[in-house]
Amino acid sequence: MLSASDIKLKKNKGEKVSMITAYDFAFAQIAEAAGVDQILVGDSLANTMLGYKSTREVGMNEMLIFVGAVCRGAANTHVVADMPFGSDANPQLALDNARRFLDVGASSVKLEGVPEGVIENLLAHDVPVCGHLGLLPQTAANFKQKGQSEEEAAKIMADARYIDSLGCFEFVLEHIPEALGTQITQAVDAVTIGIGGGRFTDGQVLVMHDALGMHNRKIPPFATKFADMYSVGVEGIRKYIESIK
Ligand code: KIV
Repeated sequence: MLSASDIKLKKNKGEKVSMITAYDFAFAQIAEAAGVDQILVGDSLANTMLGYKSTREVGMNEMLIFVGAVCRGAANTHVVADMPFGSDANPQLALDNARRFLDVGASSVKLEGVPEGVIENLLAHDVPVCGHLGLLPQTAANFKQKGQSEEEAAKIMADARYIDSLGCFEFVLEHIPEALGTQITQAVDAVTIGIGGGRFTDGQVLVMHDALGMHNRKIPPFATKFADMYSVGVEGIRKYIESIK
């Protein structure tokens, strides 16, 4: 299993880092069998697994069930647990919740933005932290690309430099211009993982349901569908129904 420092070494060697979301035992096994570097148990499970509109609908109780299942399914893969909305509201609460994730097998935690004192406290207690900048779904007013204005781009760059200086081993850059993703990647020691951050980040992450076509809804402009599991599933169940008849 890759540790946080192994992942940073990949950047130093110029090797790309692969990350995909998974939320349950079965798909964690598939991701591990495919050889992905990291599995993110994202709070996007609110949408993909539970059918909610917002990621704000899930809390620690739900996340712990899914993180535990993924860790059992991919025991040899670095699992990043996403801190759900409100779980990192202050440094002590964040530490307590992060420890609950580590206790069920996660290797690191991810959190959105730069909540005051939180990253500092997690790192001071040896919890590896993956940041998340750009579009922040838990608090965003809309899902438009971030960092288009000079001012917004400068703020994202400043936050990136700051969390890098604190010691985050990596961070996700979501839905920002490619040029900004590239500049940040060159400016920081941390590994940058893009999702709509352009082609030149150190690695990429996709939501598994988008990447494997596990639904028939529109996928975000920056996602790519590499398989069509929705159609395969419908077809398989149709054949099953026919076989009963
Ligand atoms: O929750 C999630 O799946 C995420 C990814 C989109 C990076 O945060």
